[in-house]
Amino acid sequence: MSENTKARDEITRVGEILYNRQLAHGSAGNLSQRLDDGSFLITPTNSSLGHLDPARISHVAPDGATLLAGDKPSKEAFFHLAVYEERPTARAIVHLHSTHCVAISCMCHKNPDNILPTLTAYQQMKIGKLPLVPYYRPGDKALADAVRITSKHSHAMLLANHGPIVAGKSLNDATWAYEELEETAKIFLLLAQHKTSPLTPEQIAELNKAFPS
Ligand code: 13P
Repeated sequence: MSENTKARDEITRVGEILYNRQLAHGSAGNLSQRLDDGSFLITPTNSSLGHLDPARISHVAPDGATLLAGDKPSKEAFFHLAVYEERPTARAIVHLHSTHCVAISCMCHKNPDNILPTLTAYQQMKIGKLPLVPYYRPGDKALADAVRITSKHSHAMLLANHGPIVAGKSLNDATWAYEELEETAKIFLLLAQHKTSPLTPEQIAELNKAFPS
């Protein structure tokens, strides 16, 4: 099976899982995978991630603008391209509007460089710091520019009043990190009225040493 066909099937399979887990709803969210030649496959604009047709997934040239095959690409193709250009190890990107992440994206945050306390080991291992990207309307080229700047130092980020972007070295990797982030956001909200005990800098350093990203 060609790389292209395999990636189309994988995007379709993962989209259905995310939809069935209620991490994706309606036509919100988009998934992409970069191919060896620098082009990438991305979900078509206004499509339900739960009901993708592999043959209609958009294939976009490395310039980010030329459509090589499939339906009209996601309006966020530009920020996917920006992440791929800044992070050579990134091979897949998950962007969703999952409830708990979107909830924290609408809150006020004191430190936009890292908006969440480090609550668990898996949060640190899969996500690390979570920067907040200022609000821009979906599809705005200025959003892609802001994402580009943040992706220089982070594979995961939260778009204000919108939702997260998580990149990984494979679609499974990006998806598992995304799921960890959504669970972390849920835990953070559950703990809102409780005095919490985040990991110490020493514990975080030990994790970073044992599980380098
Ligand atoms: P698309 O339907 O164009 O992919 O946009 C959905 C979305 O999640 C916007 O951020």
